[in-house]
Amino acid sequence: MDRLKVGIVGSGWMGHVHSRAWRSNAPRAEVVAVADVSPERTRALASTFDDREVATYPDLATMLADAELDAVDICLPHHLHTDAILTAARAGKAILCEKPLCTTLDDAVAIRAALQESGSTFMAAHNQLFQPSLIEARRLLASGALGRTFIIRSIEAVQNRGFSTGHVPRELGGGESPWTWRADPQRMGGGEVIDTGWHSTYRLLALADDRPVEVTAMMDRFAVKQLTTEDTGLLLVRFASGAIGEIITSWAFSPVGGWHFEVGAEHGSLAGGKTRLVHQLHGWPEPVEFTKFPDDLPQTFASEITHFLDVIQHGAAPQASFDHAARVLQLTLAAYTAAAEHCVVSLPEDPTQPGAPVAAAAMAR
Ligand SMILES: NC(=O)c1ccc[n+]([C@@H]2O[C@H](COP(=O)([O-])OP(=O)(O)OC[C@H]3O[C@@H](n4cnc5c(N)ncnc54)[C@H](O)[C@@H]3O)[C@@H](O)[C@H]2O)c1
Repeated sequence: MDRLKVGIVGSGWMGHVHSRAWRSNAPRAEVVAVADVSPERTRALASTFDDREVATYPDLATMLADAELDAVDICLPHHLHTDAILTAARAGKAILCEKPLCTTLDDAVAIRAALQESGSTFMAAHNQLFQPSLIEARRLLASGALGRTFIIRSIEAVQNRGFSTGHVPRELGGGESPWTWRADPQRMGGGEVIDTGWHSTYRLLALADDRPVEVTAMMDRFAVKQLTTEDTGLLLVRFASGAIGEIITSWAFSPVGGWHFEVGAEHGSLAGGKTRLVHQLHGWPEPVEFTKFPDDLPQTFASEITHFLDVIQHGAAPQASFDHAARVLQLTLAAYTAAAEHCVVSLPEDPTQPGAPVAAAAMAR
């Protein structure tokens, strides 16, 4: 597999973003096929490869039956992830899948069984794990320089105008607006928290490097009238070490300054955003700023795919493994329960098992 042959299923927004990221990893990989229910979209994506022919298909099964592939890259709406992963695993392909892993824990159990049976490599497309400021922050925390972590905040919020315009980017050709399926809770598997909130959740877990054991949450719809679900969530998470995490995620507002995370620890604190990372040990008069990082979101996708190639071609351990993605799902679904039932939900060790609301008496202890 010196040159990985890849088929992308879902030729929409992320299909284009991933396709550019694959190209920047040439010659280690090449996209040889693309699939989508919309022929206009497969044509539009295939036409971006002006140096060679890329085969087009109406669906994943037809693509797998016809094209010679080593790996499948899943860029579909959320409700289609499970079937696509199962189909690709049964065909023995390596799998990169956009977030979320799937929308139910029963599906996660089925996916785990299929991956174990087929031995297929699986990686979740958690691109923001490859944001340089987060990589540096995790390195600093792992070095022990800040001591024990007490508090971690992870923020992923932007005022989302896409719903009101229903805008379909011209490069996609025709087809359904990405906002239409996002406004449908059945296809979405929830609302903003399982979509954009997914990034803040895996970032929180990455910074904590620990197992979440409890979550509680409040959610509301403040601004995006097209939704019947939440457009905003605030989650509080307790980790096994005792550290407390906070997730703020929203399509209703853009936060000041673009900070993505903050950690308060025994010997000092740090804060990071797209381009910045600062830290301040106790007693220092000012924070120290690391070199500014470029504002380069596409590079996070390119690095994610470089890592996927390292996993397949060099045996690296996937940073966004099945377990890591299942843990994000377990926490997210438990947060929905906590918000609906006004309670704290405890999280079992097996990430495919659902959380259980904690009785009020147990909470008081
Ligand atoms: N990592 C990120 O920052 C990021 C950003 C946006 C979206 N995403 C994720 O990427 C995935 C896709 O989102 P998107 O915004 O690209 O959506 P999109 O609507 O732009 O693209 C989805 C594509 O799937 C196609 N499709 C639907 N049913 C199909 C089927 N049965 N077979 C083949 N094709 C089918 C649609 O025609 C569409 O072209 C989602 O999981 C989303 O959460 C991730």
